[in-house]
Order: sequence, then structure tokens, then C-alpha cells
Amino acid sequence: MPDDNRHPWPHKDLLDVTQLEADEVFRLLDLASGFQEINRRPVKKVPTLKGKTVVLFFAENSTRTKTSFDMAAKRLSADTFALGTTGSSINKGESLKDTGLTLQAMNPDVIVIRHQSSGAAQYLADLLPCGVVNGGDGWHAHPTQALLDCFSLREIWGNDFAGRELLILGDIAHSRVARSNLHLLRKLGVRVRLCAPRTLLPAGVDHWPVEVFSDLDKAVAGVDAVMCLRLQLERQQAGLLPDLSEYSRRYCLDFRHLARARPGARVLHPGPMNRGLEISSAVADAPECLVLQQVAAGVATRMAVLYLLATRNEGGAA
Ligand code: CP
Repeated sequence: MPDDNRHPWPHKDLLDVTQLEADEVFRLLDLASGFQEINRRPVKKVPTLKGKTVVLFFAENSTRTKTSFDMAAKRLSADTFALGTTGSSINKGESLKDTGLTLQAMNPDVIVIRHQSSGAAQYLADLLPCGVVNGGDGWHAHPTQALLDCFSLREIWGNDFAGRELLILGDIAHSRVARSNLHLLRKLGVRVRLCAPRTLLPAGVDHWPVEVFSDLDKAVAGVDAVMCLRLQLERQQAGLLPDLSEYSRRYCLDFRHLARARPGARVLHPGPMNRGLEISSAVADAPECLVLQQVAAGVATRMAVLYLLATRNEGGAA
């Protein structure tokens, strides 16, 4: 198996990247690289997690995270069961506690949860003996997104993260992706810039270890990568953005901005994209844009996460 590190994985759960040391991040990314190779084979299935069970508990919409966790588990031969709000007893008012205890009674190895409430994954992790993976909770954290983003950047940069400059652009106030990426990138030595209108920056951002810009031309100058964020129209409170066309004019990443970045700079986007609002269609479809590589990285990275959590009591290495 690709994980030749014989130390047991020390974490029952993956709730945020803040719990990981840098060497654990690289161990996970190395493992994901091995799984990426499996994903490129004609037959993309190995028996590694045969007999293990993964529950996909998605109480909020998802395309990438849900399907990639499902695919990741199946490629490792684990059984998967999906539970959403629609069609479940959550719709009858069953609490998170009782839903979690009900799932645990079926003895899964790992539960992946996406939930609109920050702290929902931590709550389940404290309640249940099985492994819990945070697939995105409220505005708080999205650890596997940050890990797959670093995996994608590592394919371009190698392990040469220290001293790189990365700009996170857009709706940072509502973004769990921005928070997890900021923690992980800084842990690896990347200098992070943020750019957004003041209304889309979180309270207290002036105390964060970042450079904050409101002018995209200045923010993008000399960076190695730009991470565009989806403008979360469904989470906007009235009045934050009175005029979407004005937002697009000032903050939609296009080639005119990219020309100011460092040569070879790459563009990331967690998806789903609002083309023409936060990223131009031309940039989204350009070779510099890693959005589809990020999706592929998501399967490999989530295979690594499931593997480490589901086998941790067996030493973390098969
Ligand atoms: N990036 C991301 O979390 O996408 P989904 O909402 O489609 O899972």
C-alpha cells in the first residue's frame, strides 16, 4: 500500500486543518499521490478498505465533495451509504444527535458530514466513536477542500511552498474554503493575500496574518496563484452587494489581471463557479486554471483521508 509510514495516524476525525502538523499534511498528500496513480489506471479499484463502511451524511447541497467521497470510498472497496435532508427523517425534525446515534448504531467506520451549522462535525465527533470527516460546516471549515487545493498546487510547485504568494479573491466573509486554506497554506509557509470589497471581508480580518486589499490590480501583482471564491448569493444578506455588475467589474478575475501576476501563475476555484461574476469564462477555461485538476485531486485526497481514518486502529498502514 502507498502509505509506508508505520506510525499510527493519531487523529480519529478530520474536523479542520488546524489539527494537522505539516509533516502529517505531507504524509497525507504523499498517500494521495499514490491513490492518484490508481485513479489513472483502467481498473480504478483496490481492495484496501473492503469490509469498511462510509456514511455520506450531506445535510447541505454538494456535487464535488459528495461524489468524490463516494467515489473515493468505492475505489477503495468500502461500502457507502448516503443520507441527505430530502427523503430522511431529518425532514420530520429528527435532531442531529439522534441522527448521529442512529447512524452509529449501524457501526460505520467513518461518517462524512456536510452541514449548514458551524460546529456540526465537531458535535458528531465528540458524540460518536467512529471517525468523522468535516465535509464543510457553515462558514467554519472545509478541510478536505484545502488539502486537495494543496495537492493541486504541489503538482505544480513540488514541495516548494515556502515564500510563495497566493491571493484569495472574493466572498471571504462567507467562505469556509478561505478559512481552511488560509490555515493550511500558512502552515506550509505560503504568504496569503485577501482581496474583496469590505462588506465581504470577515469581522476582525485586520488581525489575521494576511495582507488585505480592496483593489484587485494591486492584490494580484506578483502572486504565484489566485484562488477565486464563489460569490455565495444564497448566503448574502440584503445590502452587502447592491450591484452585481459593479462587483463583476471590480473583482471578476480576467487575463488583464493575470498579466500582473508572476509568469506561470495558476488559478484555483473550489467550484461551483459563477462564470462572469468572480471569474471570467476565458480564465475558467484556460490551461492556467486548475479547477478540473482540483476535482481529480479531490478523489485522491479523500481516498487518503478515508484510508487513514478507517485503518488508524490497524496502524495506519496496511
Ligand atoms: N467545493 C465544494 O465543496 O463543492 P461542492 O459544494 O459541490 O461539494
